[in-house]
Amino acid sequence: MSRFEGRGVLVTGGAAGMGRAIAESFRDEGADILIADVNGDRVANTAGELSEGGHAVSSVECDVRDSGQVAEMIQRGEEVLDGIDILVNNAGVITMDKTVDVSEDDWDYIMDVNAKGVFLSTKAALPGMLERGKGNIVNIASQAGKRGYKLFAHYCASKAAVIVFSKGVALEVAPTVRINCVCPGIVNTEMMDREYEWEEEMTGESQDSIRDRWMSGIPMGRFQEPEQIARVAMFLASDDASEMTGQAINVTGGMVME
Ligand SMILES: NC(=O)c1ccc[n+]([C@@H]2O[C@H](COP(=O)([O-])OP(=O)(O)OC[C@H]3O[C@@H](n4cnc5c(N)ncnc54)[C@H](O)[C@@H]3O)[C@@H](O)[C@H]2O)c1
Repeated sequence: MSRFEGRGVLVTGGAAGMGRAIAESFRDEGADILIADVNGDRVANTAGELSEGGHAVSSVECDVRDSGQVAEMIQRGEEVLDGIDILVNNAGVITMDKTVDVSEDDWDYIMDVNAKGVFLSTKAALPGMLERGKGNIVNIASQAGKRGYKLFAHYCASKAAVIVFSKGVALEVAPTVRINCVCPGIVNTEMMDREYEWEEEMTGESQDSIRDRWMSGIPMGRFQEPEQIARVAMFLASDDASEMTGQAINVTGGMVME
């Protein structure tokens, strides 16, 4: 399988979790990869591991909130990938609190990483794509951008912003560049591990009970794995999805159908 042979893929938040799985999956189908992450040591280690066996996987430290660092990340991508064919905006963060307790700093942090980060990276990557006459962007949003969840209203807002931003950009850059979102459900990564710990601390409900409660809302009866999200991201970036742009695709085991 080499659907992405010779294609250059930049994945933000690529040190861990879904970003790592997305990078690894594209790599396995022939792509050259640049992973970017705010955690410089970890992203370098991840790139080292994903390069084993002679694969072309590079890394760059980048905080997607910072336009200067994003410009450097994109320039690096243009160089090491010989043009960024596919940008996966995956970097994201979550915090949990009642809205009355969410500080302005927390709000800004969530919006800056999740929404502004997607804006900055998209803005910086588009000129090269438009000049080359081709390109593809996949944004890892969330089903939480389509529904409200108590204790996560600020996170939901940031992901809704990503979904609607993507639709607006899709209209601007069609047919040259396609831009779509993946909306994962509950995925087994460190982000969810942290969520279960916070929720236990806040409510006193045990982590097992929290997991069972979440699970009871999933028709498929299981949480998602990062690799399963990666498969859908790859589909959206592939020619199989040539007629799809501005879409926000749920990968939630049926938990969300809107
Ligand atoms: N895990 C889930 O259940 C779930 C569900 C829906 C959507 N998502 C979204 O999927 C994406 C990946 O989540 P995950 O579960 O793999 O999370 P994770 O916490 O396991 O990994 C996120 C990665 O992003 C990096 N990152 C954080 N802030 C950054 C910044 N400012 N600049 C660059 N990199 C930064 C982290 O260092 C980390 O390597 C996020 O956008 C998240 O909101 C996750």
